[in-house]
Amino acid sequence: MRNARILGVGHSLPSRRVTNADLASLMDTTDDWIQQRTGIRERRFSDGLTGAADLGADAAREALERAGKRPDEMGCVLFATLSPDIDMPASACVLQDRLGIGGMPAFDVRNQCSGFLYGLSIADTFVKTGLYEHVLLVGGEIHSTGIDLTTRGREVGVIFGDGAGAVVVGPEPDRQRGILSTHLHAEGKCAEKLWLECPGSRLRPRLTEEMITGADARMFPKMEGRYVFRHAVTRFPEVIREALDANGLAPADIDLLIPHQANLRISQMVALGLELPEDKVFNNIERYGNTTAGSIPIALYEAMAAGKVQPGTILCLAAFGAGFTWASALVRW
Ligand code: ACO
Repeated sequence: MRNARILGVGHSLPSRRVTNADLASLMDTTDDWIQQRTGIRERRFSDGLTGAADLGADAAREALERAGKRPDEMGCVLFATLSPDIDMPASACVLQDRLGIGGMPAFDVRNQCSGFLYGLSIADTFVKTGLYEHVLLVGGEIHSTGIDLTTRGREVGVIFGDGAGAVVVGPEPDRQRGILSTHLHAEGKCAEKLWLECPGSRLRPRLTEEMITGADARMFPKMEGRYVFRHAVTRFPEVIREALDANGLAPADIDLLIPHQANLRISQMVALGLELPEDKVFNNIERYGNTTAGSIPIALYEAMAAGKVQPGTILCLAAFGAGFTWASALVRW
């Protein structure tokens, strides 16, 4: 077997900036509260006419260009998202169409904040085994059209932002380089701790006025914030150590950790526990909020632009999110 590696990275963010002060004009919250609890200063919201696949296609074009590949050279198209453009078919199919390609398999990965790393693990396996030469993996979300921007939904509403990132994964003949390992986990018994209940197939009718306007607003995401927080600060270090152990490495060997951007306080606690200095942990949540499946590839793009990813860099990617799901990947660039 050969290894797989990331050949190119792209990103796409809507131009509209929404500050904490903007949100405070819609709901009972403050800039201070949001910054202190999450580290977020602003996020991007779409114009309301852009689907996740539109943002994803822009990110994909940039990743393809940087990889020096044409869209039709991709053997498979993966789209990690919890906010698909439409319920069916998959956003990966919509994305394929946006890119003017077809014929190769295309499917969505529905694993929320861990979706990008679940997708990376699939892409890695496809390339490593030789099933496909190149895989396009996009992670992207349009949250802004699906969150409750009133006081009722403030715990969740202030966290999320729109954005997409993309990578092209291709072969790496050197077994010591590229994606060294990926590690995936899920615990479905925690599904209701962070979920979006409606519309769903178990309800008839699937969508009612009450789901939108009722006091419990079941068609907006719900989260038990403190419960999610406690699990996140346990699972992140656990899955990072799992990746290090699998490769005979220690936390001090990490050159750069890119955690899923869920909450700055979570990233800081994880860094503290692993004794990683601040400059080895990449954060950009202050500008984009939580872009879920988009957050790791967007952060990777910006870390590369900042010169933090060089040949030989040991890069650790880690995520935790709804499901619960959590995952990591260790990469030697
Ligand atoms: N503005 C002002 N006050 C607020 C807001 C807000 N936006 N949201 C909640 N509050 C209030 C609460 O009502 C509560 O008031 P009370 O004490 O009178 O009851 C108070 O602030 C404190 O609330 P907590 O929930 O204790 O606040 P906490 O410090 O835990 O921060 C937060 C909340 C930011 C949501 C945090 O719990 C968190 O980050 N959790 C993890 C989120 C996460 O990682 N999600 C996973 C990824 S998402 C995905 O996978 C899709």
